[in-house]
Amino acid sequence: MVTEQDPIKLMKQQVGKAAADRVKSGMIVGLGTGSTAAYMIQFLGERLQSGQLKDIKGIPTSFQSNVLAKQYGVPLTTLDEIDHMDIAIDGADEVDPQKNLIKGGGAAHTREKIVDCLAEQFIVVVDSSKLVDRLGSTFLLPVEVIPMAITPVIRAIEKLGGQPELRMGVKKAGPVVTDEGNLVIDVKFNSIDNPAELEKSLNNIPGVLENGLFVGVADVILVGELQDGQPIVREIA
Ligand code: 5RP
Repeated sequence: MVTEQDPIKLMKQQVGKAAADRVKSGMIVGLGTGSTAAYMIQFLGERLQSGQLKDIKGIPTSFQSNVLAKQYGVPLTTLDEIDHMDIAIDGADEVDPQKNLIKGGGAAHTREKIVDCLAEQFIVVVDSSKLVDRLGSTFLLPVEVIPMAITPVIRAIEKLGGQPELRMGVKKAGPVVTDEGNLVIDVKFNSIDNPAELEKSLNNIPGVLENGLFVGVADVILVGELQDGQPIVREIA
């Protein structure tokens, strides 16, 4: 019965399926990272297996999405092999009313930004808990940093008014190491008034590879919600 299942999981599954249904045969698809994007990859695989979908190619945004694509039978390619990308589908940690995002909960925001920005259409898949009035209100801002620069970058972020903390591994001693071999600093800002400016200021610090602010990149937000206990999908275009 639907009510016995985790409501967040239900919303993520529903929105992942809705996004996978938007992919058409022949498309090149950016494959996002995280638990919601994982459902999208699974549903893409199911559509391929049933013959409903043909000849798509995926560009993974992380080790995780690479592994999932192989597991569910989604053929992969690389940025070197293609001259365009039709669509990218990815999750987010926060979405504001202007469709600006915080990403990087899975420490994959650098590759995600590369892939998501290249797509002709970038669809974000979230459950309703990710919608916020102002970025930074529920989630710390992830910043990927080249290891030798960690100390000066922490000082520079403090000068910008942030409170940085090094992301530590779970079930792994020591810090999180990204797919690119770097470290992640999660930063608390009391108020992110101008996401576009902060995105640039952070990326201007020598040693910062990329931060998790995605400003003006998302085209469509698909939001998984519960209505009378049933999962539904709302579109913000
Ligand atoms: C990974 C991400 C994810 O897309 C984001 O953390 C959302 O994940 P989930 O769908 O599991 O809530 O940015 O770097």
